[in-house]
Amino acid sequence: SAMGREDVIRQELSSLHGIPLYKSFVEGWPQVEAFQARPDDLLIATYPKSGTTWLSEILDMIYHDGDVEKCRRDAIFNRVPFLEMKFPEMPSGIELLEKTPSPRLVKTHLPVQLLPTSFWEKGCKVIYMARNPKDVVISYYYFYQMAKVHPDPGKLGEFLETFMAGKAAYGSWYEHVQGWWEKRQEKQLLYLFYEDMKKDPQQEVRKILQFLGKEVAEGTLARILHHTSFQEMKKNPATNYETIPTTMMDHSLSPFLRKGISGDWKNHFTVAQNECFDQHYREHMAGSDLCFQMEV
Ligand code: PPS
Repeated sequence: SAMGREDVIRQELSSLHGIPLYKSFVEGWPQVEAFQARPDDLLIATYPKSGTTWLSEILDMIYHDGDVEKCRRDAIFNRVPFLEMKFPEMPSGIELLEKTPSPRLVKTHLPVQLLPTSFWEKGCKVIYMARNPKDVVISYYYFYQMAKVHPDPGKLGEFLETFMAGKAAYGSWYEHVQGWWEKRQEKQLLYLFYEDMKKDPQQEVRKILQFLGKEVAEGTLARILHHTSFQEMKKNPATNYETIPTTMMDHSLSPFLRKGISGDWKNHFTVAQNECFDQHYREHMAGSDLCFQMEV
């Protein structure tokens, strides 16, 4: 394509079947839609900023039986290719996946209705991780600032409006978390929460192991938990995204692994913003049995 790197910096979002998305991803969509999954692919699905990288590192550690050195073989975005990713002058998610030996771990932020049908046809297992929307919107606000593929988010108040209106990249958080929640009845889908992972990572990793039908030694489990802690991941170049060119991600504006806590929204929302958000949340979650912990 004639697009260069500079053409994706601070561009307005385009639309993919009504979902706001980066222009270059929309251009690459035909290849993504036609993607051929393999039965042993494991899909990691999330709304952005919900613990994707954390879950990805946990899974790569499980897949390598807790071998820390093997999990340093490459950056997380190469070890766990991002399905719909396409930027100029970089291999696309699809190209990375074609070169990845099975069993593959695949990352996506797609809403459930846009997932390439091949994943369902091949009966692939899926792990979805959801995070409460107040922490998601704060994490996303900082990410919009540091990841230059996003439009300028403006002041927090403006970005809250963007998010609530479903106009942030990947669209409505409400539709995303509910859409995937409804699929868990009929599919091989494990639905996890960031807040549970913060509270009791050992219990959640055991759930993942059970879902995968894998067993690990106690020492291995301990090593996985240590290696995937926020502090370890923050200093690990294979997980902290520092190898992405500064023109794309500027960690001096905000690090990719920023705080890694639940409840940081309390340091950012005004009382009025919180009331408005709560009201909007109640309206959009009414009728759903999906519940979120806004802090732990
Ligand atoms: S992305 O770009 O959508 O794939 O981002 P994603 O990885 O989903 O989300 C980034 C947030 O997850 C936090 N994070 C962690 N929290 C706790 N423990 C560990 N190990 C961990 N790894 C990443 C990361 O810090 C981002 O959240 P905030 O609140 O901004 O710190």
